[in-house]
Amino acid sequence: MPAPVRVAVTGPAGQIGYALLPRIASGQLLGPDTPVILQLVEVPPVMDALRGVAMELEDGAFPLLQDIVLTSDPKVGFEGAHVVLLVGAKPRGAGMERKDLIEENGPIFVGQGQAIAEVADPEVRVAVVGNPANTNALIATANAAGVPADRFTAMTRLDQNRATAQLAQRAGVPVTEVTNVAIWGNHSSTQYPDFENALIGGRPAADVIGDRAWLEGDFITTVQQRGAAIIEARGQSSALSAASALIDHVHDWLAGVPTEWASMAVVSDGSYGVPAGLVSSFPVRTDGKGGWSIVQDLAISDFARGRIDASVRELEEERAVIADLLG
Ligand code: NAD
Ligand code: LMR
Repeated sequence: MPAPVRVAVTGPAGQIGYALLPRIASGQLLGPDTPVILQLVEVPPVMDALRGVAMELEDGAFPLLQDIVLTSDPKVGFEGAHVVLLVGAKPRGAGMERKDLIEENGPIFVGQGQAIAEVADPEVRVAVVGNPANTNALIATANAAGVPADRFTAMTRLDQNRATAQLAQRAGVPVTEVTNVAIWGNHSSTQYPDFENALIGGRPAADVIGDRAWLEGDFITTVQQRGAAIIEARGQSSALSAASALIDHVHDWLAGVPTEWASMAVVSDGSYGVPAGLVSSFPVRTDGKGGWSIVQDLAISDFARGRIDASVRELEEERAVIADLLG
């Protein structure tokens, strides 16, 4: 058996945590042959609930789960961690935008970024889910002195999966027929789900669907507003689909499955005119071993350009609000 991989998860007693942990323990994050040690970091008032979650993990008798660490100290939880999943943060309620959480959630990622730099494995990879995810990832990387910025990502895979499902439904095809769906910008209501580069059965999605008005209108707003629609319907934000998207995100990035195309928010190098240093979503190619590169030379229409620029402006505004947290 290979050596176990240490996976740290914050917010493990929350909704996403509950949907996520059994999938990590059963090998869906890192593959069926990789043992895992779960290092779970909660806030002190929630430690009793976390002990209950840990009992359930034990009762799952997962063959790959070698150990479980429970702590409220990120320096204990991130010790030697190879993968850090930063989920723990307050979710928004009805009528809020994700950026309304920034003052409350942003500071969490200062100490967590510092702890990652101090105690995590030198090869650590980090995925941020807690909202506003892009800007929280920016805060974490800015505070993780010595850890290369390309180790930090924020999750926009849920948006990609949502867009894929919408296109598949509209075209009346299985989701597996839909490829090359890119999410650009912020994980927010300004994000741009790109239908112009998307393919259905290898053909341009716009040709297959044949309804540009729907693509420019309802398709985009449905994806942008899907998180709010779930909160409206469920009274709580997405958890099952968020956990599933996080499995997809990390699996494609780290578990030996190179992809031609996966949407991840990463620290921009200036590609596609997105200012360097912002954490913005791009289509990336992953190598399945922790490396990624932005897919280059895609056609960006004037329509797309306007949408991407609007989302990038929002990221700049968010960065200005938390400038004092950037170390
Ligand atoms: P939740 O309230 O059910 O759970 C959050 C958990 O985080 C709680 O158990 C809480 O105690 C814990 N927590 C809070 N601060 C912490 C800290 N400093 N350290 C460790 N744990 C901490 O919320 P949820 O539904 O699981 O959502 C978690 C976050 O993920 C929210 O911010 C939500 O908006 C976000 N989210 C993002 C996406 C995405 O696509 N990027 C999707 C869904 C949800
Ligand atoms: C989502 O996209 O479902 C999450 O970001 C939760 C939210 O606040 O919408």
